[in-house]
Amino acid sequence: PKSRQELKDRIKILLREKDAVLVAHYYVSAELQELAAETGGFTSDSLDMARFGNEHPASTLVVAGVRFMGETAKILNPEKKVLMPDLDATCSLDLGCPAEDFATFCDEHPERTVVVYANTSAEVKARSDWVVTSSIAEKVVRHLHEKGEKILWAPDKYLGDYVRQQTGADLISWDGACVVHEEFKAEALKQMRLDIPDAGVLVHPESPREVIEQADVVGSTTQIIKAAKELPNKRFIVATDRGIFHKMRQAAPGKEFVPAPIAGETVECIACAHCPWMAMNGLQNLAHTLETGENEIHVDPETGRRARVAVERMLEFSR
Ligand code: 13P
Ligand code: SF4
Repeated sequence: PKSRQELKDRIKILLREKDAVLVAHYYVSAELQELAAETGGFTSDSLDMARFGNEHPASTLVVAGVRFMGETAKILNPEKKVLMPDLDATCSLDLGCPAEDFATFCDEHPERTVVVYANTSAEVKARSDWVVTSSIAEKVVRHLHEKGEKILWAPDKYLGDYVRQQTGADLISWDGACVVHEEFKAEALKQMRLDIPDAGVLVHPESPREVIEQADVVGSTTQIIKAAKELPNKRFIVATDRGIFHKMRQAAPGKEFVPAPIAGETVECIACAHCPWMAMNGLQNLAHTLETGENEIHVDPETGRRARVAVERMLEFSR
């Protein structure tokens, strides 16, 4: 077995040899995020990951994140090879929204514009009119609402509820949730805010409504990091995956970040503020996929073509 440093050195060589670039999410380990930075790759939220992969000239994209991120990269870049350290790295939102059941839901509401969160399979995206990420969900739905359109939303019920509330749109939602963000506890957060009254509260919109309601800033991972830098507070309570603390500390040195409470006194959390699927990305399996070309993402070309229309609509809208 190689040391961590040997593995990193090997990965750097392989990235060059294979004309590959590493695109990582903020929830993967600090080690992988640093490796992306050191090799000309990129770490970001899911919207900017898609954009970066789409614009980068490398012929291979290595996506350190979860499966829907790899699939989005492939949908946008069918001519590129897309690799992932572990193809079983999925997402509870994706798992909770099977394409066939989703198609039935859409068929029941043919008059509605179908807006799906990026945290879904390529098949679900292919059935949608729009794909959105947390960073632009509100803007897109507001735009559609102003045009008089009614929305069918999937799969995250909390994000759907938040967007409905913010925009006043007529929106019906699929009943899905993120196992990580659903764990944040509103009552315990109230107590924590009393204990640290000067702390700003930053919340990802996959969290329950009563948690979102206590936020100073609600946003995607990139937007949360930006807020940590720009708000005057010296301390923040953060309701999202703890992988984000690495970039937050870099972006706002000297500030203090406290994880939002995930459990009451007697209740155990399931995911404990860290996504179990993001945690499947490591140095060993990253080196392996680069070495062997295994763990390639494939998307059926016809599905990909249909999904691409909805994903490109998002990229175009956010330009
Ligand atoms: P972002 O688009 O905010 O990075 O969110 C992706 C995600 O999976 C959050 O749990
Ligand atoms: Fe999915 Fe939640 Fe993990 Fe994000 S943190 S990938 S939404 S399970």
